[in-house]
Amino acid sequence: MTKIKAAITGVGGYVPDYILTNDELSKMVDTSDEWIMSRIGIKERRILKGEGRGTSDMGAEAVKQLLLKTKTNPDEIDLIICGVVTPDMLFPATANIIADKTGIRNAFGFDMNAGCSSFLYALTTGSKYVESGTHKKVIVVGADKMSAIVDYTDRATCPIFGDGAAAVLLEPTTDDVGIIDAILQSDGIGRVHLHQKAGGSVRPPSHETIEAREHFVYQEGQPVFKWAVSKMADVSVEMMERHGITPDKLSWLVPHQANMRIIDATANRMGINKEQVMINIQRYGNTTSATLPLCLWDWESQLRKGDNIILAAFGAGFTWGSIYLKWAYDGDKI
Ligand code: UT7
Repeated sequence: MTKIKAAITGVGGYVPDYILTNDELSKMVDTSDEWIMSRIGIKERRILKGEGRGTSDMGAEAVKQLLLKTKTNPDEIDLIICGVVTPDMLFPATANIIADKTGIRNAFGFDMNAGCSSFLYALTTGSKYVESGTHKKVIVVGADKMSAIVDYTDRATCPIFGDGAAAVLLEPTTDDVGIIDAILQSDGIGRVHLHQKAGGSVRPPSHETIEAREHFVYQEGQPVFKWAVSKMADVSVEMMERHGITPDKLSWLVPHQANMRIIDATANRMGINKEQVMINIQRYGNTTSATLPLCLWDWESQLRKGDNIILAAFGAGFTWGSIYLKWAYDGDKI
């Protein structure tokens, strides 16, 4: 029997209109465009403004666009998974809220939080439902409103993050395209270096946690950087070796957009050129769960059926991984 694979058959995306530039940030904290560009590589990031607006609002915009582009009726969707670190609420799942806002009524939905690797984990999980033959149309969203948990008085973290969302549709295929392999890993030892101190069950919200500014991203940049550089490159190279993908056979690397220096180091270890790497960090910053699908959204028109693509990410947990897929359609025909 021919094996069923899951193929990405469409991409939708959304970034908020408000642009927070390095110059504006320099008026908020002691930093400069020169420092941010040389150490991280970010020029500007998008911020979701407006009372009562959250991650699901961006996710819903991305899903609406996806349904429109792929001419899919919301009733046909079987499953929706949202990779997210900044859910609308601790519960219910943001996936359920997105489904409600987009008219998806016949699906079950849940969130996955694997830090900046959330989209990789969610895409792999979604693909398993399609491969098993039980689910035919699965939406995987990556969405985060990082501005909700960024401390804009902390210069060590506030330049890094931005808001955004993107979503892909997964459908079954027996052609020589689709998701071929995934390597996913995690090590909880890394939690000390990157986390949000309060708001969970260990330290529920209180006056004390708010006064101590514990409801924000806490990051020790250097250890996270060291782990990210080696682990993201390790899994990307391992994926190339497993499938005999030489640098000339790789169409695109889609790396998590955390730091330009981490992206460069990964590309160097893989032996590929900058032209083979999707990079939009300068415009959006680190949108956590949304970085990988936002790249696919930005580059969709350049993608061709059969393109060899490796996605790679590293994030809080620690979590990291890579996915190898063959693109399923000519992006300029959409
Ligand atoms: O997506 C999840 C995974 N996260 C990551 O992959 C992030 C990994 N880490 C990083 O990308 C980098 O560690 C950072 C971008 C967070 C920081 O860059 P760095 O080169 O590691 O800088 P550093 O923390 O070692 O700081 C170097 C200097 C310090 O000054 P001194 O002690 O040398 O005088 C900092 O106080 O830069 C200073 N500094 C800044 N200066 C201007 C830190 N932040 C800023 C700033 N503007 N915004």
